[in-house]
Amino acid sequence: VAHGLSIKRMMTMTTAPRGLRSSLTNYGDTDFALFLRKAFIKGAGFSDDALDRPVIGIVDTESGFNPCHGNVPQLIQAIERGVMLSGGLPVSFPTISIHESFAYPTSMFLRNLMAMDTEEMLKALPVDAVVLIGGCDKTVPAQLMGAASAGKPAIQLVTGSMLTGSHRGRTVGACTDCRFFWGKYRAEEIDDAEIAEVNGRLVGSVGTCSVAGTASTMAAVSEALGIALPGSATPPAVTADRMRVAEETGRRAVGIAEEGLTPDQVLTPAAFDNAFRILLAMGGSTNALVHLAAIAGRCGYPLDLEAFDAMGRETPVLVDLKPSGDHYMEDLHKAGGVQRLMLELRDQLDLTALTITGRKLGDELDDAPAPFDQDVIRTRENPIHSGGGIAVLRGNLAPNGAIIKQSAATPALLEHRGRAVVFEDAADMAERIDRDDLDVTADDVIVLRNIGPVGFPGMPEAGYIPIPRKLARAGVKDIVRISDGRMSGTAAGTIVLHASPEAAVGGPLALVRTGDTISLSAEARSLVLEVDDAELERRRGDVRTLPRPERGYAKLYVDEVTQAEEGCDFRFLQAVETTTSVPLRR
Ligand code: FES
Ligand code: MG
Repeated sequence: VAHGLSIKRMMTMTTAPRGLRSSLTNYGDTDFALFLRKAFIKGAGFSDDALDRPVIGIVDTESGFNPCHGNVPQLIQAIERGVMLSGGLPVSFPTISIHESFAYPTSMFLRNLMAMDTEEMLKALPVDAVVLIGGCDKTVPAQLMGAASAGKPAIQLVTGSMLTGSHRGRTVGACTDCRFFWGKYRAEEIDDAEIAEVNGRLVGSVGTCSVAGTASTMAAVSEALGIALPGSATPPAVTADRMRVAEETGRRAVGIAEEGLTPDQVLTPAAFDNAFRILLAMGGSTNALVHLAAIAGRCGYPLDLEAFDAMGRETPVLVDLKPSGDHYMEDLHKAGGVQRLMLELRDQLDLTALTITGRKLGDELDDAPAPFDQDVIRTRENPIHSGGGIAVLRGNLAPNGAIIKQSAATPALLEHRGRAVVFEDAADMAERIDRDDLDVTADDVIVLRNIGPVGFPGMPEAGYIPIPRKLARAGVKDIVRISDGRMSGTAAGTIVLHASPEAAVGGPLALVRTGDTISLSAEARSLVLEVDDAELERRRGDVRTLPRPERGYAKLYVDEVTQAEEGCDFRFLQAVETTTSVPLRR
């Protein structure tokens, strides 16, 4: 073979990166292991010259069931180009891929499995660095969790947002508009023919939801963490900008392989501070709080909910994106993206944080494109919401905390006292919520329990409890709702989520009865069940124990999953906690 390396040279090259020499088995004949490895990969037609380079793994999350990742084949081509232009050898390999609508019982149930898959493949394969291609809600958190634990150099690339569509002159995008039109249909304001027509308009192309849902939030959070390239969060999936970002990500992957820039050097408390700040300033998804807690937990930094609330109070919501505002991700991209937002918040960010470029965030912002006039990213003087986009509530109904996305709530309902109307679980709610004889008024407080991480493995987004049909028909648009579940970032309403501990592990939500009085005060950050402790203790004996899965991943899940404020990660996957919690107390 003309360019073949002698066996002797093949065995003796020790300069980092180690390429196929990575992860040599440390038992038996290691030279023979390398010999075999090369023999097999040569079966795919590789030359020695190709193999004698830094090996850049590309995590391929294409799936026919994941249209949010429909551009992954093109992204891989662009990444490969970037890797090869920088002298590396790109090798792609698959992991689990998760789409929100194709992951029964819920995508969150599978997030930890994807994190384990990602971690173990990163450890198992002889890669010097990896490009993680994620996009749909749970995929980016899973990849960052796995990469943080695997410890090899890694860079995140997101697939980018879908294009918006249009229905009878109104711009639409998944899935705030999905909910808007479905609400109208439930209220019998639009008919069968129109809802069918809308169905074909909501998702304009492959790519992730185009509002400030979890995918968009995690894209922005990845950039804010510094684990994705500056400017990489917002280019839509099908654009030239997105492909150029992919090429650049491939180029940089070779750099991090050569420099040995591992995730722990990037995912520092300073980086998490910046990520929480951007989550708040973009009016992002409440799910991102759970995911950030999980990623930070992989790095040994527990989440400090009080510090997060304090940060929230001084962080205005500046991005005018649905559901808190009016625009879509493609508009945010044209307005300058996450870098433009960071420039607006510059004095609130930790500019010393090291990014995946090898430079500090402050240096990257110095070189960011110059700001221009636009109407998507507001100034500090003219925010969408002045502060506390996501507030943390405490009280006897949520001793370990609950959250509310104030920026997407009805202001008048944020201070509210009302009668509890309790649903035992998701099935009970599905069965009764639309009945005409349901005893409920617009002033009541709907409680849904047993949808927490253990109660309904995966903690589904059922916290977005629909308005009872009889109220919807009467024109009621919002009502106070409380649960131990999650809610999609694309949803809006006065909705208290993540009540912890959840009902299924003995949390007080299990003790509420229809007719009790509940008071919510977002201002005082309190959530109180107005029933005395002695009575609550008496009720404990009546709490129903839920059946638990007896085998397989579901058993592992309920046995090991943590509560929302701990990220819903598995206990045995978290790093040993350091004394530093995030965000930092100032
Ligand atoms: Fe994939 Fe919304 S369903 S990002
Ligand atoms: Mg979602």
